[in-house]
Parts: sequence; C-alpha cells; structure tokens
Amino acid sequence: MEGVKIPEHIAIIMDGNGRWAKKRLLPRSVGHKYGMERMIGLMERAFELGVKYITVYALSTENLKRPQEELDALFNLFRNHFSEYMGRVCARGVRLRAIGDISLLPEDLQKILKDSEEQTAKYEGKGINVAVCYGARDEIVNAVNKAVEKGEKVTEESFSKLLYTGEVPDPDLIIRTGKEVRLSNFLLYQAAYAELYFSDKMFPEFSDKDLDKAIMAFSKRTRRFGKTDEQL
Ligand code: IPE
Ligand code: IPE
Ligand code: MG
Repeated sequence: MEGVKIPEHIAIIMDGNGRWAKKRLLPRSVGHKYGMERMIGLMERAFELGVKYITVYALSTENLKRPQEELDALFNLFRNHFSEYMGRVCARGVRLRAIGDISLLPEDLQKILKDSEEQTAKYEGKGINVAVCYGARDEIVNAVNKAVEKGEKVTEESFSKLLYTGEVPDPDLIIRTGKEVRLSNFLLYQAAYAELYFSDKMFPEFSDKDLDKAIMAFSKRTRRFGKTDEQL
C-alpha cells in the first residue's frame, strides 16, 4: 500500500460474532471461534503493513453478565486455542499484554495470560494488547485509586501511565465492526484523538481487504489535534 500512512496503533472492537452465527443458524460459540481465527489473520496483516501495536477488545466487564453458557464457551475457546494462535503471532517478536481486570477470569485462564506475557516480555517494538474483563470506567477508577494511594497529584501524562495501557501509546485508529456506532466502554481516556472507523460487516467476515480499506480511510483523514490546517 504505497503512499498510505500506516497507523502505529490500531484498536479493534470485534463485534458481531453472535449475529453472524445466528444468520447461519449456528450457535453463538461458532461465531466466536470464527471471530478468533479472523482476529489472528488481521493481526498478521496489520503487522505486515507496519502497524506496531494492536489492541483487541475480546471481553468487556459488561459481557461478564452474559449467560453462563456463552461465557463458558468463550472461556473454553480461550483455553483450547489462545496459546496456539497467539504463539504463532508472537513468535515473530510481538509482546503480549493483557489489559483489564484479569482477576475476574477463571484461574487457569489467568495463568495462560500471565505465561504469554512472561514469554514475550523480551520483545520490544511490536505489541498486542488483549482486553479481557476490560472496562474503561473500571480502568479509570482503578488508576484514580492508584494515584490516591500514592498520595500524588497527577498530570495527563502521569495519569495515562497508571492505566492498564500505561506502557503503550494511544491508539491512532479504532475500528468497530458489527454495525453499531459506539465505543461500549472501550479506551475512553486513550481514544481522545483516535480516528474512528465503523464497518457494517460482522467481525467474522471482516477481511484483510476490509482492514486495508480502514487503513486507507485513516490515511486520508486530517489529524489536527485542535490546530488549524495552516498550523500543520
Ligand atoms: C463480539 O461479538 C464478541 C464479544 C463481545 C465477546 P458479540 O458476541 O457481541 O456478537 P453480537 O453483537 O451479539 O452479534
Ligand atoms: C463490545 O461489544 C465488547 C466487545 C467487543 C468485547 P458488545 O457486543 O458487548 O457491545 P454492546 O453491548 O452492543 O454495546
Ligand atoms: Mg455485540
């Protein structure tokens, strides 16, 4: 994609797995399986294009209120495939970080995430953040409490370091699939100047070409950060 400005950090709200499955008369869990596989494909494409960080919204704090049957299916998917799939992507020098209140996950899944984090901690430059049991309000409240415990006033800069994404730059582009036009409690602090891109496609059918299209749309945006065109 010559001449196209590549975002350094892309965050993805992967939405529409359930509706994709329902339309095909399949159980929702099958939609999640296809969604997970599609996510791996998109990560590979994004890194190939030169993206440095990818944040994936995999499970929100609110999603924990879904029926136990669906949560169990999601947890099993994670249990059975996460290490293998992520291992494939991370083997190319990608550092994995879990963001969210991981303590809300079953213990064996917490361990899978911690092991992946440890195994990839040596890598610099490229990163994947998996948002699980993640809620931006929870993240902000948690950061406020950390600041209060330290007894120090915060600045915009120091506060952002207290968030789950502390070591990662803010997203340049946030993509949401699945037709909804909202953030659903995702990266509310970090998204201040992100470019937003919404796709009507359900996540399992969001192709590499669709990702390219989103990046091309990003490339055409003028990011003013409050300034005038003349100042840029
Ligand atoms: C997104 O797909 C994945 C998760 C929230 C885990 P959904 O499960 O929300 O799919 P829809 O929105 O019901 O189609
Ligand atoms: C957002 O999708 C959360 C994830 C993609 C993990 P939801 O399907 O939970 O969002 P709402 O409920 O439609 O806002
Ligand atoms: Mg949804």
